Amino acid sequence: MDENILNPNPIGKIIEEEEEFHHLNNPVLGLKPIVKKYLGSVTDVKEAGNKFFFTDSEARVEVTVVTDEIIRVRLAPHGVFLEEFSYAVPKHDQKAVVFSLHQDENEYRVSTNTVNCHIRKIDFHISFSDTQDHVTSQDSVPMHWEENTQFGGYYVFGTKVCHHDEAFYGLGDKASDLNLRGRRFKNWNTDAYSFGWNQDPLYRSIPFYISLNEGIAHGIFFDNTFKATFDFGAEDRTKTSFWADGGELQYYYIHGPHMMDVVKRYHLLTGTHPMPPLWALGYHQCRWSYYPETKVMSVAKGFRTNQIPCDGIYLDIDYMDGYRCFTWNRKYFPDPKKMIKELAADGFKTVVIIDPGIRVDDNYSVFKEGKEKRYFCRRCDDYFMEGHVWPGRCQFPDFTNPEVREWWGGLFDELVQLGVAGVWNDMNEPAVFGAGTFPDDVRHQYDGFRGSHRKAHNVYGMQMVRATYEGLRKLMKNKRPFTITRAGYSGLQRYASVWTGDNVASWEHLRLGNIQCQRLSMSGVPFCGTDIGGFSGEPDGELFTRWIQFGAFSPFMRAHSAGDTKEREPWSFGEPYTAINRKFIELRYRLLPYMYSTFWEHHRYGFPILRPVVLQEQDVLTNQARQDEFTYGDKILVCPVMEPGQTSRPVYLPKGQWYNFWTNEIAQGGGEIMVPTPLETIPVFIKAGAVLPEYPIMQYVGEKEIEEVKLNVYYADHEVNSFLFEDYGETFAYEQDIYLEKKFIVNGKNNLVTIEQTMEGLYTPRYENYHFRLIGLPFAPTKIIVDGKTITDFVLTEDKCYEFKFSKNFKHIEILK
Ligand code: GLC
Repeated sequence: MDENILNPNPIGKIIEEEEEFHHLNNPVLGLKPIVKKYLGSVTDVKEAGNKFFFTDSEARVEVTVVTDEIIRVRLAPHGVFLEEFSYAVPKHDQKAVVFSLHQDENEYRVSTNTVNCHIRKIDFHISFSDTQDHVTSQDSVPMHWEENTQFGGYYVFGTKVCHHDEAFYGLGDKASDLNLRGRRFKNWNTDAYSFGWNQDPLYRSIPFYISLNEGIAHGIFFDNTFKATFDFGAEDRTKTSFWADGGELQYYYIHGPHMMDVVKRYHLLTGTHPMPPLWALGYHQCRWSYYPETKVMSVAKGFRTNQIPCDGIYLDIDYMDGYRCFTWNRKYFPDPKKMIKELAADGFKTVVIIDPGIRVDDNYSVFKEGKEKRYFCRRCDDYFMEGHVWPGRCQFPDFTNPEVREWWGGLFDELVQLGVAGVWNDMNEPAVFGAGTFPDDVRHQYDGFRGSHRKAHNVYGMQMVRATYEGLRKLMKNKRPFTITRAGYSGLQRYASVWTGDNVASWEHLRLGNIQCQRLSMSGVPFCGTDIGGFSGEPDGELFTRWIQFGAFSPFMRAHSAGDTKEREPWSFGEPYTAINRKFIELRYRLLPYMYSTFWEHHRYGFPILRPVVLQEQDVLTNQARQDEFTYGDKILVCPVMEPGQTSRPVYLPKGQWYNFWTNEIAQGGGEIMVPTPLETIPVFIKAGAVLPEYPIMQYVGEKEIEEVKLNVYYADHEVNSFLFEDYGETFAYEQDIYLEKKFIVNGKNNLVTIEQTMEGLYTPRYENYHFRLIGLPFAPTKIIVDGKTITDFVLTEDKCYEFKFSKNFKHIEILK
């Protein structure tokens, strides 16, 4: 046990000083000053089911055993807790957990099979330890609060001990180094056009961080939607603090010890992304804006004539009539149904933008209906919340009202009838020109737990895209909708993908985008990407190509650009760029089955899609600061090139053996190697033992019937597991177990390699055979036996791989020397 736990309150003195300070500055003599209040000594405890209520005779602290590894702590300054409600954590069935309460002279201890939560009697310090009594997290001062006289309620504060070498990750959307140590951040969704390094806050609020100290990780999820601040040793390097301008001090302690465990458990609370339609993992082309129709069609044609794969094409705000949502500009788009049908016939799925601002216009049906039904947000004195956005003067639906969400969802009917496949929700921080966002006094229904904009601001965008997603899901029947949002709060992953907003065409932003995607991925927002090429400004061919190369390994791959920039399609920069862009977009399509399987791993098991190296090797101290390399799933390591003219760069490979994807050369992990980076490639390495499934190159998902799946088997001298997930790719049948989850176990020796396959699920793919490609075999095989049958027609390819075909239903393969 940590000695601090037994020390008497080291901050008692500080509290006294603070009280004194406030007295001196209090101009109204005799009036009790408003000061920060701290919990006193614990005087009593009560037990109720999986909850324990501790009190210092006035305030109460609730400790809830959520699972063996997750404990929730709540504070009620005057003993009365707020009614429980969270947009982030949907109610889930309580799993039966064994727990107990003990006490001794110094502390109470709530214990599960893996975690102890200690409540120190003398000063209410709360700490957590594992079964070896290793303290993972501890209060530096007791939880505290300050009354908010203007709005009521309290500013609430938690402060933990920050250790010398402790590193911090997460928070989803911060434009800073991956390790957040030494910095302070705010969560307040903000339209941050052309944001810069360390600019804060940005578009989304994810109040979840992971601490890594001495190789042991834990997470804190501060589920509070008010404006919140996190300080990771910035003000005082011995303290990590988080506080909010209202609401409850409510946080979940999430046990590790591995960072990956913490991320998975965070998903247990907030949910995972539903399976996207397979096409959404393809390439998307966007611009502000492609119009009129002839322009859209010529861009689409450009992809097919240049033979560059593309699945998604976007209509930005100019497709609407005066930027009125759910309308069409008939001059630019006389027959949207016909256009969308023609696009679909050529493999393009049309995605349209929908913003929250509804133009104040009594001749506009959406406004009229919203007004009649009183669905728009109002100020404290009942005036409507009005502000300027693209359409001019607008009012804004209160998406925190379930009835409004239902109405909003239904508005997509016509777009769905027209064949629209996806919806892009933008400006939903919410953004208002001039003012930035709504004033604090705007009221929200908040699913019956009414509140002002102070409480609803950070969830507004998430509830908008929730309404969109749920509406589309109903309207599209059994088809998976594709949705993308700019703003959000923890749990948004249940409804949408995200992009990092209005970035800039600069090398610095490419570097930033790489960090942002890794960070979003480990903060529960897996389906993320950047505006490839940069939204504002002009990339040159080299920057655009390097960005496409990075984008090929972003979970969401979309090029987008502002209206005042030059053309920005993958062929816009001429050769050699076009050919390289094509090669990388093609690579994306070849890797689709791997990427889709990784998505399944996320959806079903809560793994992040992108994984910074520190997430995989947290015990290596130098990994704490690494932020260039990441893996996509656990088999492909990528290191983007983020400097102009770079011809080689160092790449860190985690321990083990890795294959250079381009040359099949084997590299030893556990250190840095120099890798050539001519414009044609970026460093990509495949983990030894991996089975990498591959599709033939297609111009769009579904262009061709898949006749066989290539399985690239990378030799390893030990056992390695890989997955392949298959299903219809566009329906929700997977929720009824209509899918196939295949596991491959590869095991290599000097004279023998075995590959085993097991399957789970009820789906039957239409192709018959696998096309095996054996890479890195240390011997020339004489015999290949599959399920007892000897194969003789295997071939040696020019690049020294052995290839053969066999039924997709094989169980066991032996490759013998
Ligand atoms: C915002 C979005 C951008 C979009 C533009 C016009 O700036 O972030 O992606 O193109 O609005 O709708």
